[in-house]
Amino acid sequence: MGLRGPQTWGVRVVDEQSSERILHSVLDAGINFIDTAPDYGVCEERIGKYLSSRRGDFYLATKCGCNAVQHDDHLEIRHTFTKDTIQRNIELSLQRLQTSYIDLLQFHGGEAAKIKEAGLIDLLKDYQSQGVIGYLGVSTSLPNLPGFVDLNLFDSIQVPYSCLSPEHEPWLARIASTGAGIIIRGATAQGGPEASIQRPALNLIWERARLSDLLPDGMKPTELILRYTLSHRHCDTAIVGTCSEQHLFENIAAANAGPLPPSLYSQFTTAIEAAIASSSPLGKECLRD
Ligand SMILES: NC(=O)c1ccc[n+]([C@@H]2O[C@H](COP(=O)([O-])OP(=O)(O)OC[C@H]3O[C@@H](n4cnc5c(N)ncnc54)[C@H](OP(=O)(O)O)[C@@H]3O)[C@@H](O)[C@H]2O)c1
Repeated sequence: MGLRGPQTWGVRVVDEQSSERILHSVLDAGINFIDTAPDYGVCEERIGKYLSSRRGDFYLATKCGCNAVQHDDHLEIRHTFTKDTIQRNIELSLQRLQTSYIDLLQFHGGEAAKIKEAGLIDLLKDYQSQGVIGYLGVSTSLPNLPGFVDLNLFDSIQVPYSCLSPEHEPWLARIASTGAGIIIRGATAQGGPEASIQRPALNLIWERARLSDLLPDGMKPTELILRYTLSHRHCDTAIVGTCSEQHLFENIAAANAGPLPPSLYSQFTTAIEAAIASSSPLGKECLRD
């Protein structure tokens, strides 16, 4: 999502040269799963342009139900769950990504019952039987998550989760019980307290839980947050966003350091639970956003 380019949203724009470099660095480092969406500006085009020659080296996930409208200065994100939109998304994604197949196609939000009633699951199964799509998934969050879990037919479910934003944690075991793989987004709590784009609602929990006091010597906040996420027994993979090669390498080192030691994990959990419990209802609302 960070490689979405100009005239989209946010304050940062990554140029072509840096996009090419970081995409190759991702594969060179051994990462083999990339998540994108038709909504992310020029992101799909860049993946196609720079990585199509290495298509066999990675699993490619994109999304559908995307009906973004490009204005002169920004991209307006809209989601529409109709057969037309899904078919258009798939055709355009294949073109932009310069590939003949999408390993994982995820509904980009929406409501389970409406998606099913509109025949969109059957539509994706048709694409699957033709070999255009490998697996079926959904990227969702509360309150729509339970409807998708109840359908019990997805290969993967993508949800936000981190120690600073744990609202979906009670659902992870339930998702896993359906046999779906769990893809975590927001796995670094969008970069933690040292992120270049600050997230005050998340950082509030960091401060309230006094996590800096518990941080072992030499461990950066982002390492702690990412390793906490990866330590969760139901986290199958995490799609960490970064436009910085330095952060990419730090995150890989964090992942390679393995799960947090159990005593540290439970110390952090206790501190975070206490901080969240003592948050005002308004603070809890901010966290949900
Ligand atoms: N509804 C959906 O389907 C949906 C919604 C949101 C996101 N997503 C997917 O999930 C991916 C990641 O989600 P996300 O961006 O919301 O959350 P995230 O991965 O937790 O956070 C990404 C942010 O963290 C910063 N960061 C990463 N590593 C860092 C490090 N070592 N030190 C300091 N800052 C660091 C990045 O800034 P730098 O660039 O400066 O490193 C970036 O701004 C997206 O790219 C997208 O593919 C899907």
